Formats: sequence, structure tokens, C-alpha cells
Amino acid sequence: MTLRVGIIGAGPSGMAQLRAFESARQKGAAIPEILCFEKQDDWGGQWNSSWRTGLDAHGEPVHTSMYRHLWSNGPKECLEFSDYSFDEHFGRAISSFPSREVLFDYIKGRVEKSDVRKYVRFNTVARHTSYNEDTQEFTLTVENLKTNITETHVFDKLVVSTGHFSVPSVPEFKGIKTFPGEVMHAHDFRGAERFDGRKLLMIGSSYSAEDIGMQAHKMGAESITFSYRTAPMGYEWPANTVERPLVTHFQGRTAYFSDGTQDDFDVVVLCTGYQHKYPFLPSGLSLKSPNVLYPGNLYKGVVWQQNTNLFYLGAQDQYYTFNMFDAQAWFARDVMTGVIDLPSLAEREADISLWLERLAALSNHDAEADFQSDYLRELIDATDYPSFDLDAVSQLFKDWMHHKETDILGYRDMVHRSVVTGTMAAKHHTRWLYAMDDSMERYLNGPSQEVDAEVFAEASGAVAAR
Ligand SMILES: Cc1cc2nc3c(=O)[nH]c(=O)nc-3n(C[C@H](O)[C@H](O)[C@H](O)COP(=O)(O)OP(=O)(O)OC[C@H]3O[C@@H](n4cnc5c(N)ncnc54)[C@H](O)[C@@H]3O)c2cc1C
Ligand SMILES: NC(=O)c1ccc[n+]([C@@H]2O[C@H](COP(=O)([O-])OP(=O)(O)OC[C@H]3O[C@@H](n4cnc5c(N)ncnc54)[C@H](OP(=O)(O)O)[C@@H]3O)[C@@H](O)[C@H]2O)c1
Repeated sequence: MTLRVGIIGAGPSGMAQLRAFESARQKGAAIPEILCFEKQDDWGGQWNSSWRTGLDAHGEPVHTSMYRHLWSNGPKECLEFSDYSFDEHFGRAISSFPSREVLFDYIKGRVEKSDVRKYVRFNTVARHTSYNEDTQEFTLTVENLKTNITETHVFDKLVVSTGHFSVPSVPEFKGIKTFPGEVMHAHDFRGAERFDGRKLLMIGSSYSAEDIGMQAHKMGAESITFSYRTAPMGYEWPANTVERPLVTHFQGRTAYFSDGTQDDFDVVVLCTGYQHKYPFLPSGLSLKSPNVLYPGNLYKGVVWQQNTNLFYLGAQDQYYTFNMFDAQAWFARDVMTGVIDLPSLAEREADISLWLERLAALSNHDAEADFQSDYLRELIDATDYPSFDLDAVSQLFKDWMHHKETDILGYRDMVHRSVVTGTMAAKHHTRWLYAMDDSMERYLNGPSQEVDAEVFAEASGAVAAR
């Protein structure tokens, strides 16, 4: 009987799984019966952005955490598909840090070239899964959000590619309910224009805090205070930005910090990360993990240890993104189809332990980038996914992190060289700080917005604070 594969989620990871099978088909292999379920009306996952917060038009939790003016936060050369270059998609060199719409266009371009959309049932949410040990089959219940009709499907293999940056972690802070200003989680942030002239407190010290804070600065916030739990980010911030240790409590609009300082704020943004949440899976199949580079219980970061018919894609914290999801999807495909033989449970456990030991010893960001490069290397070596120079990408990550240390507002103006084509990125017509229109039209066709930015500044007083 033909193998039946179910895929939940058609973001970049789910799309990678579809492409992995398509690539095998093009090489003459017989491929399984595939069905992919996506609760949104288009593919793209996080990149399919929305103005909505809270619930979507069907009453489902809004998936995306992206926002206006989001640009890539790492060089695009680090996520480039090795079989679909930026040069091929855009026909010319573009800058290293494109905006969301531009990157979305690139990932869509790659899947649209293949005939895989037919496998996806859009507006269809996965609701419930059970596994029959005797028949070794999954029964998945899905709901069509337009008709509210539920259906069950039976699969031999199940791929979970629903992402893990959608369900916010929202800690409690003493007295926060007395805060009279706006309190939001980064998941619900949609643009920093509203922060013009406001005093912001950002709790958290990772990518969301850094980017939303600097978006606020760009849009004219009066001041930005970052509050960290473990360690400060330590960048050279603009003059209106400071870092403080963790908030101990609030009283009205005043926040008190553990170093004894205090200040008044207009807005609190909780940049406190996200939860791994898989409400459609029983607890025995559901990954529980913090946001780390190697979640336990997944062999090669992909195969569920206690049930090797279950696969997770994109479950790690991410230096690499699109190309890593590809490498994982190619690996998962080959395990599903028996091209790769899995070792015994104990051998898999030993392999996971080795990675976890190495993870525990990582001492800085450079080591983390090397760690994830080595992880990708193992996956790519095991499959026919087109290889690329992983050491060169590791170096790109290190250069990028160094640029951030020297110029947090300017690192996105730097250019990097593609390891796939050798093309040097083009310097963008407008520096990130002055770019006030993030549409693809403006990105690709200019003209520079630096002149417009001065007009904007005069009108809003925004640049005065920079
Ligand atoms: C704010 C933010 C900014 C980011 N910026 C960058 C960046 O600049 N560069 C970069 O490379 N990466 C960035 N990322 C990382 C991003 O997570 C990855 O690029 C990528 O989107 C992950 O792909 P994914 O398919 O694993 O998950 P997602 O993109 O989250 O896609 C998961 C899909 O599953 C669907 N789904 C969820 N639950 C169900 C269900 N029950 N039934 C059916 N479908 C379901 C969702 O609708 C969604 O389409 C960013 C992430 C965030 C949160
Ligand atoms: N393109 C872009 O510009 C952009 C912008 C935003 C986000 N992103 C992406 O989005 C993803 C998620 O990033 P993220 O920053 O939201 O999550 P994250 O990287 O998981 O970081 C979570 C942060 O929350 C802090 N935190 C958690 N619980 C806390 C608590 N109880 N009290 C105080 N602090 C707490 C953590 O602090 P500890 O260090 O103490 O654990 C950490 O600093 C990343 O992949 C990132 O690249 C990209």
C-alpha cells in the first residue's frame, strides 16, 4: 500500500516537506500520498502577516507575530536555498536584509515553481490526533474553518510543522494590573508608529526586544528601557535607550527594577518569548521544550524518539531558517521512505545526548552558530539536499553579530556575499533607519527614502531623538 503522509502547517517548514517529496518525484522516485493542512488561507506561516491580533476571522488564534517594517534580522545569505538563489528569483543583486514582503516573495517563488499547492488544504485546522500502536496509524481530525465540517484522515507518518513562535509566554509581574498604560506581548505588536513620543519598557533581552525597541526608536519613541532576566544585550544603544535588570514590581505607571532604580512608563511590551504548544497532539507525542538549539527527544532534531513515525520540523531555536528546514525535510523524507535506516532507540538516545552535552557547553553566539552549522552538515551529508559552504555561512553569522555589536542601528545596511552564487549583495538605496515604506515596490524600485525621512522627521519630530 502507498505510504500516507500527513503534514500539519504550510509555513516554510511544511513547504520544505512538500518540496522534498517533489524533488524525489522529479528524480523518478515513487512518492507517498501527501496531504497538508493549513489553518490560514495561504501558505507562508509567520511570513503571511496580518493586521489582526487575538483571534482571526474564524475565531482561531492569529498565527503570525510579524509586523509592519519588519526586515530580516539576519543576512539573507544565511538562509538562502542552495537550489533556488536570490539571483534566480530577483534577477539581480538585492541588499542583505530585505523586508518581510520581499522575503515572503522569495519563499513563495520557490514553491510556486513546483506543483505542490494541490497537496494543501487551506482554511483547515488540525484539531485532534490519536495513534494506534497495533496498526501503527495516526488518525487526525481536522476542521474546515469555512464550513465547520470535521473530517478524519488516517496516516502512516505525521509531520508537525506548526512553528513555535505563535503562542506567547506571558509571565506575571507584581502590580502590573495597576499599570494604566498599554501592556502587550510582542506577538500582538503590529507597528511602532503608535510609540512616537512615548516612554517604553521592553521586558526581555532577545531578538523581539531588540528589534521592537529599535523600531520604536526609529518611529520617535521618547525613551526605551530594556529589562533583562539573565543578561543584558549589551549593544551600543542610542542615547534614549538603557538596559536595566528585571522588574521586581509595578505601582501605577512606575516600574521598579532589581538594581533599586525606578522609572515611569507609558507602554510595557513583554518580549518574553513563546511556548511550544501542540493542542492537536496527545501529551505522549507533544514536544515540551524551551526555545533551544537542540530540543531533547528528537533524533537529529527531527524524529520523535518514542514514535519514529512522527516528525517535527523547525522545532529548534534558529540561526539558520529556510535552508535548515529544507535539510530537515529532506532527512525526514528519507527516513519515512526507508532510504535512511534509523539506528536503535539506545543508539538514537546516545546521539541526542552527545548533541545536548555539546549544547550545554556553548559559551557564546559564535559557538552557537558553529553548533547549528554542524547540525545542518550532518543532515545534508545524510541526504541528496544540495550542499553549500556551511563554514562560510558560519562566518557570515559571526560577521553579522560583530556588526550588531558595533552598530545596532546600522547592521542592516551592511552587505554580505552569497555562498550559493558568489554574488555580493547590493547596497540598499535607503539605510534601515530612514526606510519608512517597507513595500516590495519601494524596496525594489526606490528611490531612496532618506530625503523623505527628513520630511517625515520635520512633520513628526521623529529623527530629533536619534
Ligand atoms: C517576529 C518574528 C520575526 C522573524 N523574523 C525572521 C527573519 O527575519 N528571518 C528568518 O529567517 N526567520 C525569522 N523568523 C523565524 C520564523 O519562525 C521562520 O522564518 C519560519 O517562519 C518558521 O517556519 P515554520 O514553518 O517552522 O513555522 P511558521 O512560519 O510559524 O508556520 C507554521 C504554520 O502552521 C500553521 N498552523 C499552526 N497550527 C496549525 C493547526 N493546528 N492546523 C493547521 N495549521 C496550523 C500556521 O498557520 C502556519 O502557517 C521570525 C519569527 C518571528 C516570530
Ligand atoms: N526579523 C526580525 O527582526 C525579528 C524580530 C523579532 C523576532 N524575531 C525572531 O523571533 C523569534 C523569537 O524571538 P523572541 O525574542 O521573541 O524570543 P526568544 O529568543 O525565545 O527570547 C525570549 C526572551 O524572553 C525572556 N524571558 C522569558 N521569560 C521571561 C520572564 N519570565 N521574565 C523576563 N524575561 C523573560 C528571555 O530571557 P532569558 O534570556 O532570561 O531566558 C529572552 O530574553 C526568533 O527566531 C527571532 O529571530 C525576528
